[in-house]
Amino acid sequence: LNNGLAQTPQMGWNSWNFFACNINETVIKETADALISTGLADLGYVYLNIDDCWSAARRNSKGQLVPDPKAFPSGIKVLADYVHGKGLKLGIYSDAGAFTCQVRPGSLHHENDDAELFASWGVDYLKYDNCFNLGIKPKERYPPMRNALNATGRIIFYSLCEWGVDDPALWAGKVGNSWRTTDDINDTWASMTTIADLNDKWAAYAGPGGWNDPDMLEVGNGGMTYQEYRSHFSIWALMKAPLLIGCDVRNMTAETLEILSNKEVIAVNQDPLGVQGRKVYVAGTDDCLQVWAGPLSGHRLVIVLWNRCSKPAIITAGWDALGLESSTSVSVRDLWKHKDVMGDAVASFSTQVDSHDCEMYILTPQTAVSYEI
Ligand code: DGJ
Repeated sequence: LNNGLAQTPQMGWNSWNFFACNINETVIKETADALISTGLADLGYVYLNIDDCWSAARRNSKGQLVPDPKAFPSGIKVLADYVHGKGLKLGIYSDAGAFTCQVRPGSLHHENDDAELFASWGVDYLKYDNCFNLGIKPKERYPPMRNALNATGRIIFYSLCEWGVDDPALWAGKVGNSWRTTDDINDTWASMTTIADLNDKWAAYAGPGGWNDPDMLEVGNGGMTYQEYRSHFSIWALMKAPLLIGCDVRNMTAETLEILSNKEVIAVNQDPLGVQGRKVYVAGTDDCLQVWAGPLSGHRLVIVLWNRCSKPAIITAGWDALGLESSTSVSVRDLWKHKDVMGDAVASFSTQVDSHDCEMYILTPQTAVSYEI
């Protein structure tokens, strides 16, 4: 969507994956504080997004949405002011249907009023869900909210959450700043790998202004191993997915914070070229040895060597799979060890990768200068 936002994928936090409906204004404020104190905000995680269950069960007598009086007694504007005061941005949630998935009032046919209200509160981001949609096609239900947000005069990030229904990559580029390509993620290796593969299909449609959204991060929620979370974060970064943290940032382990804070991996996600990397080569049983790759600015490439098999294995990225001439010499930097590992790799690069782990590198072609007299 051409609203000036999303030149790189959005980064921030969202309440749903960890808290579901157990949210309140204290959690949101403490999360804002934690984003600052952990350094995550400085790394770019600036959107603090409240998901479903912020709203009361009914609209008020003027037909307006009302924050749940128990969970958000001070209202949303106060929260927006609070997070703005910390240099963060506030996101809210509604639904392109009669109700949200947790049966709070939806915004279908209330688009203008609700957008106005969100703008008046100082909201910076809207996630727009797909429950109770009355069987109306997403293509018809999502543009009215874009128009309504646009009409408020406030620049609001518009995140479509239509679960991949009707192949949004094909039509949502003009509607939203990101669109979901799949059903909900859950905190398991099976879900995460399946979603990565589904999202890969739409790589060609992502770019500055509009990104494929394979759903929010589960890093730190406990259902996967350290290696699996590292893979999850690496592949999401390479796929130019939104990096929306989904754990309780007030209580993170050192490992979780280390993964989410990897500056070099974040820089891949936020690279100004904005091209979604993809799966470029597979080998092994059920294609479980994988090379994912994509171009970066400055003629560089990012590669992830991902071992989805049950045993450690050597994975080789051949230059043919990466679209490089076999004679090209590249330097290789390891983004998890934070080390230059090779000055002059030619034709291929191989490394041993543990089961369910990945290694991630940036390849920088050497400028081959030859003088002929
Ligand atoms: C479905 C969405 O896909 C989730 O991300 C979350 O927003 C829930 N609805 C909330 O009910």
